[in-house]
Amino acid sequence: MARPLPRFVCQSCGAVTAKWAGRCDTCGEWNSIVEETVERRPGPTGRGAGGKSDAARRLAFVGLAGEQAPPPRQETGIAELDRVLGGGFVPGSAVLVGGDPGIGKSTLLLQGAAALAGQGRRVIYVSGEEAVDQVRLRARRLGVAGAALDLAAAINLRDIAASLESAADSALVVIDSIQTMWLDAIDSAPGTVAQVRACSFELIRLAKTRGFALVLVGHVTKEGALAGPRVLEHMVDAVLYFEGDRGHQFRILRAVKNRFGATDEIGVFEMTDRGLAEVANPSALFLAERRGNVAGSAVFAGLEGTRPVLLEVQALLAPNPGGAPRRAVVGWDGGRLSMLLAVLESRAGLRLAASDVYLNVAGGLRVAEPAADLAVAAALASAAADQPTSPGAVYFGEVGLSGEVRPVAQAEARLKEAGKLGFSTAWLPRRVARGNRPVVSPAGMTLSEIGHVADLVAAFK
Ligand code: TYD
Ligand code: MG
Repeated sequence: MARPLPRFVCQSCGAVTAKWAGRCDTCGEWNSIVEETVERRPGPTGRGAGGKSDAARRLAFVGLAGEQAPPPRQETGIAELDRVLGGGFVPGSAVLVGGDPGIGKSTLLLQGAAALAGQGRRVIYVSGEEAVDQVRLRARRLGVAGAALDLAAAINLRDIAASLESAADSALVVIDSIQTMWLDAIDSAPGTVAQVRACSFELIRLAKTRGFALVLVGHVTKEGALAGPRVLEHMVDAVLYFEGDRGHQFRILRAVKNRFGATDEIGVFEMTDRGLAEVANPSALFLAERRGNVAGSAVFAGLEGTRPVLLEVQALLAPNPGGAPRRAVVGWDGGRLSMLLAVLESRAGLRLAASDVYLNVAGGLRVAEPAADLAVAAALASAAADQPTSPGAVYFGEVGLSGEVRPVAQAEARLKEAGKLGFSTAWLPRRVARGNRPVVSPAGMTLSEIGHVADLVAAFK
């Protein structure tokens, strides 16, 4: 009988060390190293137990070209979910759905599972966090209590694996959450890297051999990383984050990795008292509370994945009584704001150094696109001049360090969305309209091309 080996594993990044330390050398996290014991097992070439299977098999190499049908898909019918998945669940694949506790992961997956079960597919939902009664109560609230779903409350992975092994032809298995699962062969608590990794490995192996789509729910820590199992992101085929602001009703499902579809795709939902409702037209939702005649507000024609989304950027300037001026940003990058402020100051003569600057992307969405630069610049220029932007105007374009406005991708899609929502003017980079192919603007929309931010600032004088 092999003696268990002690080893020390960082619960934040998964690094393994031979000695305990107060701080992980790999990721710099404090107090994250925990002792875990593992069974000594022969390696792939080991001469340990048996030693019979030493003869290696030759691989049958194949060419790069070959017939490959696209993976079959199981659509849930919830369009916002299906699109983020890349067209539905792929049999035999594993998807990790991460998000803050309480954001709505269980709600989303129960609705998705019930929708698939409603199509006559076998769906298994294993809850490790809630008792059967609690899940039933939720199902009733969501109006899906009638769905033919196989529900169990369990955390023992040996039991779950045995049940899945014998449950033939299931289309989808949801494990809520992977941090509650526990494999008795591993001598550490549920939620530790060793447990999460071992349980996931076993479940993913089952998904591949039995051909069901597997969804693992994972909680995220305060810092925004999937708690402990960053290692898990490499094991699964797709990683989706469910995010949103607890103060707002809408939630965004975002693909950050997808072997079977595009990343950066988003699905937008609204949390209602009867569960998550799909938001087919997010721009209308994000702009719903906009007041047109306030200085410091500009509408950004953005792009999330393949989807154009209009958002309101708000800037507020306040006189600074002295000392270092404050710069506070919600929904955008603070470093990018500092850069843009410097460009506006030195290339367009906008004096902002003596003001506190507050910037907010209304609605709680986080914008990562450089194309938002022009909208932020417009919001700042509008606030500085105390003059509202035109109520029918949208802005997009990247701003460079010399103040030049650079072209961005998908101008037409952005313009089309703006036109659809009744916007009549677009401020956009010049070269977009001067490319090989002229930009087709929606009927009745005026395009104002700008080459330099100074021209934008001058428009507010
Ligand atoms: P939940 O799905 O349990 O979150 P997670 O699994 O990510 O921890 O969602 C919990 C929150 O959602 C809870 O605060 C209540 C709210 N909620 C609604 O507003 N409406 C509903 O119909 C449901 C089921 C939940
Ligand atoms: Mg939950």
